[in-house]
Amino acid sequence: MSALEPPPLLLRRVRPYGEGAPVDVLVRDGVIAAIGPGAGDDAPDDAEIHELDGAVLLPGFVDLHTHLREPGREDTETIASGSSAAARGGYTAVFAMANTQPPQDNQTVTDSVWRIGRSVGLCDVHPVGAVTVGLGGEHLTEMGQMASGEAQVRIFSDDGMCVHDPLVMRRALEYSAGLGVLVAQHAEEPRLTRGAVAHEGPTAARLGLTGWPRSAEESIVARDAILARDAGARVHICHASTTGTVELLKWAKGQGISITAEVTPHHLLLDDTRLESYDGVYRVNPPLRETHDTLALRAALVAGVIDCVATDHAPHAAQEKCCEFAAARPGMLGLETALPIIAALLVESGEMTWRDLSRVMSVRPAEIAGLTDQGRPIEVGEPANLAVVDPDSDWTVVGEELASLSANTPYEGMTFAARVVGTVYRGRMTSRDGEVLT
Ligand code: DOR
Ligand code: ZN
Repeated sequence: MSALEPPPLLLRRVRPYGEGAPVDVLVRDGVIAAIGPGAGDDAPDDAEIHELDGAVLLPGFVDLHTHLREPGREDTETIASGSSAAARGGYTAVFAMANTQPPQDNQTVTDSVWRIGRSVGLCDVHPVGAVTVGLGGEHLTEMGQMASGEAQVRIFSDDGMCVHDPLVMRRALEYSAGLGVLVAQHAEEPRLTRGAVAHEGPTAARLGLTGWPRSAEESIVARDAILARDAGARVHICHASTTGTVELLKWAKGQGISITAEVTPHHLLLDDTRLESYDGVYRVNPPLRETHDTLALRAALVAGVIDCVATDHAPHAAQEKCCEFAAARPGMLGLETALPIIAALLVESGEMTWRDLSRVMSVRPAEIAGLTDQGRPIEVGEPANLAVVDPDSDWTVVGEELASLSANTPYEGMTFAARVVGTVYRGRMTSRDGEVLT
């Protein structure tokens, strides 16, 4: 064993997918070497042993939508702090959005993000490349260069901004199909959201906040489905937030269009009545919608109409959030609270099994991104990227205690039953009981 190789790892008494009696899982050289009631008996003397008391073992989570803020806003998050948050949240791969400063719109920046992620070594950090130069919506970036660079960029998005010009989007889809990469769209028709800070509906009207109509999202989802169809391309919809988007996804998938979509934990759990407090922590793009939207989104995720969960982890400084609602920056933390929320909403409620949860938090996102060593089954010979979940931990969220450099969590003081208590990344434990192991 070289100094760089992690020692063998023995996970004692875990339940893969929460099914059956506890077993031991032995990890060696980055892969699962043995699984079974007696797998620990053959563990080498130098194995690092973790007693896990029947905790649920899942494939490590993959987040298609994370904002890490490096380069440019390292006061709010860095690749290192965001990777720590990811490790604590059970993530073994994250896709870092392109709206950094400068943006990730060229190979120098994307390769640098990839390299920093590798040197931090807590999870795979895949830079998302920008679709347009400077996220300006006009000129396509050199997607091919970014895709063939060290980072092998495979997802492109102007997230935060919508690629709203239909001709630019059409060309982006055409090029992406040729390159075998994926365009992920932040679906927001800007002409319909000028000055908007909240979901357009009774709550915003009562509170005197400028409304963001569902049609701003749905018109782009419909348009992009059709553009993708005609370009023979795949398209991915970021943070689906409305009942109408669910209907459009059903329609498009029914037509055989290559469209996939993600939903955030906050759009599944929270609705716009939270805004009654005028607390900027609830400002997010797209905005929190109404109860029927949250229910439609949950049902769509269960049914596979929405493919996966993505956090849209969006750190912001205190002064950018603790201000007048309309001046607050949009976005919320998500990496460390995703599993507890999805478990509460869908597993504890009986709508999903742990295996289903693995599908939406690991298997599907890995497939969508084309990752071959993530989202894999828990079987001998597979890469050891794993999350260990205590389903009865009763964990209360405290923003200041999160690994993120920012504290803008909308779940402050909320208690969740399930929590990630261990993450294994490339055969090494990267977090245990909330502690990040570097
Ligand atoms: O709420 C959001 N915050 N939505 C986005 O699309 C961008 C993100 C950010 O970068 O803060
Ligand atoms: Zn977005």
